[in-house]
Amino acid sequence: MNVNDLLAKLHANLPAENTGVVASYIPELAHVDPTKFGVHAVTVDQREFCFGDSDEGFSIQSIAKVLSLTMAYQRENQKLWKRVDVEPSGTPFNSLIQLEQDKGIPRNPMINAGALVVCDVLLDYLAEPRKDLLAFVHSLSGDDSIGVNERVAASERETSARNRALIEFMRSFGNIRNDTERILDFYCSLCAIEMTCSQLSRTFLFLANQGVSPFTGERIVSTSMTKRLNAIMQLCGLYDEAGEFAFRVGLPGKSGVGGGIVALRPRDYCVAVWSPPLNYKGNSHFGMAFLEGFTSEVGDSIY
Ligand code: DON
Repeated sequence: MNVNDLLAKLHANLPAENTGVVASYIPELAHVDPTKFGVHAVTVDQREFCFGDSDEGFSIQSIAKVLSLTMAYQRENQKLWKRVDVEPSGTPFNSLIQLEQDKGIPRNPMINAGALVVCDVLLDYLAEPRKDLLAFVHSLSGDDSIGVNERVAASERETSARNRALIEFMRSFGNIRNDTERILDFYCSLCAIEMTCSQLSRTFLFLANQGVSPFTGERIVSTSMTKRLNAIMQLCGLYDEAGEFAFRVGLPGKSGVGGGIVALRPRDYCVAVWSPPLNYKGNSHFGMAFLEGFTSEVGDSIY
């Protein structure tokens, strides 16, 4: 069976009813059609496969945290880990509970607290943070049409009480330097980046290719940094469902509340799937089920 037919078959094998629920705590995200489903896979030698709504843009949300982390890691190297740890949290993405115990150092850069620290770090380096970040995304994907959905960014800024609280709490421990509204503005526009499944899998392909863009041959991060970024995704990318994701899918991956999940097999391929309804842990319900079927059927996990 060819891979496109396999993707269609795996989609047909999903349950008839999706018990997930579309995110609505960021009001603008609630408008998305819950029946949308897309998947796109690309190999490091640039063979591409797709099914469904793979060319429709969606809000990548927390998936973007890996991209800001990559930028901060490029600039700070090992210094970065003084401000954010690399341990799985076992808590929901927006939890505050461990921060007091851990003296304002977030458990990892994938939970909101950690991603907000990463944004704070980047504000010290970037002259035009929003523009510089998008330029980085354009260079990774080879696609200049990727942009920020400003309605989603504004909608999140207006409902940011919890993220604002995280910033102020970390500031009380001396782990935040920049103005809260600047950090939030940068963070909300980062999360409001829109991509299609095909743009997303291409953007993340450097992490399956030992840190080198397969499209341009440019080295983005070292092999050792790539190992670490993938390890962070594996252990923390799906928050308190990271164990379940490793168990069922067996790949480093990152989810977002827009219903996207990107996952990759080092030296092999990257796959992006999008289905908006989320399970109770905030990860795409069908996205997880589809990827489980994919790695089980192809037999290609990292384990
Ligand atoms: O900060 C937030 O709540 C959102 N911008 C991102 C959360 C998210 O995508 C969690 N992932 N599943």
